[in-house]
Amino acid sequence: MADNKKIILTGDRPTGKLHIGHYVGSLKRRVELQNSGLYDKTFVFIADAQALTDNIDNPEKVRQNVVEVALDYLACGLDPSKSTIFIQSQIPELCELSFYYMDLVTVSRLQRNPTVKTEIQMRNFETSIPVGFFTYPISQAADITAFKATTVPAGEDQEPMIEQAREIVRRFNHIYGETLVEPEILLPTNAVCLRLPGTDGKAKMSKSLGNCIYLSDPADVVEKKVKSMYTDPTHIKVSDPGKLEGNTVFTYLDAFSRPEHFERYLPDYPNLDELKAHYTRGGLGDMKVKKFLAAIMQEELGPIRERRKEFEKDIPAVYEMLRKGCEVARETASATLDEVRRAMKINYFDDADLIAEQAKRFAQE
Ligand code: TRP
Repeated sequence: MADNKKIILTGDRPTGKLHIGHYVGSLKRRVELQNSGLYDKTFVFIADAQALTDNIDNPEKVRQNVVEVALDYLACGLDPSKSTIFIQSQIPELCELSFYYMDLVTVSRLQRNPTVKTEIQMRNFETSIPVGFFTYPISQAADITAFKATTVPAGEDQEPMIEQAREIVRRFNHIYGETLVEPEILLPTNAVCLRLPGTDGKAKMSKSLGNCIYLSDPADVVEKKVKSMYTDPTHIKVSDPGKLEGNTVFTYLDAFSRPEHFERYLPDYPNLDELKAHYTRGGLGDMKVKKFLAAIMQEELGPIRERRKEFEKDIPAVYEMLRKGCEVARETASATLDEVRRAMKINYFDDADLIAEQAKRFAQE
């Protein structure tokens, strides 16, 4: 039963290393939430089984990226003494829950899920959708509800997923009695962090477009990526007026810059508004702005990179941490599954009343 605990759960597919889009959109917040003391439990997991739904012929990619994502988590400050970090495929209870939830969702409802719709298009799956991929919102509902998560910090692309999970919970509780907890999404508070564009100005950072800055990128790579970022193609001479709209460097400054950065690296300007005004007016070159952004990025990413290097020195310890996380996660998921089985009346052997009642009935007949 719901017991008014506040529980966080969120995860990532291990299809690549994590990048700064993940960082501003979700990771940074997760660490703050973990440390806020406002939540009873935090679960963070690596969604390898979900990653396999559209990478079924590439298991090695998923396998290699599990440890990369774990390292990114630790580097960002997720702390296994405060958060349970685990791997989805190691929790078989999630499969069983998904199986039961499948009866609560219609095919047409899944077809209407906007995230699934776009993802099917992106992968050219229109004519041949793997069933597992098609139904991953159901398995995602299992991920969330197995831990009775109340709060799912995620990007806005996950909104339809959470809505689908909420519907499953309502339907389940309506039929079988109050058992599951309805989760809520927790979106980034800063609008620009909802979806950070790629360094080429394209709407989304994606590995296949080669437009990401990774948390594990060395300092010189970050420098190079920032210096070659997309700005305003009509801003050719320094004296030309520049546009801010669609100008990736300024979008990143919106996401990353704070007043103290100006004091430290660009004291000629009191704040971002003044910098933007100068750029729009003309007379401010792209390189100066890029250098400023590069300095900020190095300040933000430097400590993460250093911590990652430390954790990389002891990979067996990272796996041990994950193993322990899986153990804890399994206990929780299994307790929820017990409640689900009881609610669904498929708990034959631990229901002494059922057996006694039936024995009586058959004796009377
Ligand atoms: N779908 C998420 C992504 O694409 C990963 C994920 C799987 C997830 N299960 C989840 C996120 C449960 C939040 C809650 O990254």
